[in-house]
Amino acid sequence: MTPRRPLTILAAAGLALLVGCADEGAVLLSPGGGDELLYARDIQPLWDRGCTGCHFAGGTAGLDLTADSSHAALVGVPATGYAADRVTAGDPDASVLFGKLAGNGLYGGLMPEGGPALSAPELELVRRWIAGGALDN
Ligand code: HEC
Repeated sequence: MTPRRPLTILAAAGLALLVGCADEGAVLLSPGGGDELLYARDIQPLWDRGCTGCHFAGGTAGLDLTADSSHAALVGVPATGYAADRVTAGDPDASVLFGKLAGNGLYGGLMPEGGPALSAPELELVRRWIAGGALDN
């Protein structure tokens, strides 16, 4: 009868709380997971902020980094200036883009040219995006 109902509701609330906490833990425990990362939300804003002043349609190096064009211009596309793809899905170290952002010296100068380099967390986002398959999501 009625006395049992509040307990049931409490138990359900407790379970929901537990599930919520477990979800948060999963995100924190899998920084290399890639599945939580969205190209449009997490990566494109980096290009909008520091790159599209030079890399727009018809701009520098034939590389258009504006929203709606950037993914198709990067992934699996041979670089204009280097003997490698701009982004090799799954392999940051083989990607001109990552090399130029990390300043590894393999692909010319650091990007963004003349601007502050990406922060370590931003660089890690780009690495995760490429390592996770460079999805267009
Ligand atoms: C002030 C202008 C300028 C800005 C801002 C800039 N770039 Fe560049 N970028 C260049 C120039 C010039 C080149 C060609 C020379 C070279 O490869 O270093 C280039 C080349 C590149 C290449 C190689 C393209 C190819 O096909 O060879 C990539 C990748 C790149 N930039 C990415 C970026 C990213 C990502 C940003 C923002 C974080 C950025 N750039 C910001 C001027 C700029």
